[in-house]
Amino acid sequence: PASLIIAPSVLAANFARLGEEVTAIENAGANWIHLDVMDGHFVPNISFGPAVVKALRPCSSLPFDVHLMIEPCDPYLEDFAKAGADHITVHAEAGPHLHRSLQRIRALGVKSGVSLCPATPPEQLSQVLDMVDIILVMTVNPGFGGQKFLTSQIAKIARLREMIDASGHDIRLAVDGGIDAETAPLAVTAGADVLIAGSAVYGAADYSAAIHGLRGAGQT
Ligand code: DX5
Ligand code: ZN
Repeated sequence: PASLIIAPSVLAANFARLGEEVTAIENAGANWIHLDVMDGHFVPNISFGPAVVKALRPCSSLPFDVHLMIEPCDPYLEDFAKAGADHITVHAEAGPHLHRSLQRIRALGVKSGVSLCPATPPEQLSQVLDMVDIILVMTVNPGFGGQKFLTSQIAKIARLREMIDASGHDIRLAVDGGIDAETAPLAVTAGADVLIAGSAVYGAADYSAAIHGLRGAGQT
């Protein structure tokens, strides 16, 4: 497969010194910075918005991978692009016009992503494979870090890998939720090539060792 991307989620970082926490994971070997945006409406938690993404932009040269758990998402796409997002991922469940949202993201010059909650089937994406650069499979219910990986999602990862390969499009397949050194190999074996991890990285005493552990787990 394509080389494995490790994308730590700052949701599990120390919010009192977020800039340093972003710089620290870049120095520890991360590939992307995953930024979880929650609105207290689409998901039952509130995190941060575009002003925080903008404030963090000078703290790292890595791609900013912004995961929008907000409804509606379209009114905010331009704000996040201007704030410095390199990728914007929206939820297939967050509105009736997924195709339009993906068009708008690409028109902003940003890579487009779509995420599926655990209850949403992979076939939901069959009509947008030409519109996405990243597919993100939630392996927990979105809203909180530190939850247990849902093994029921492994078949969905495998099905999406088949759909991506059959499409011929260049699409990254990400997993998010409960990813650690034990669950990472399950996701990679099923076909994931991006590992998003919050607590497994920021909960570790040594960020570099945690990132290397995830990368190694992906090589099995
Ligand atoms: C959950 C977020 C995840 C979260 C993952 O809604 O999308 O990115 O930060 O946290 P862990 O790795 O702790 O499950
Ligand atoms: Zn996320």
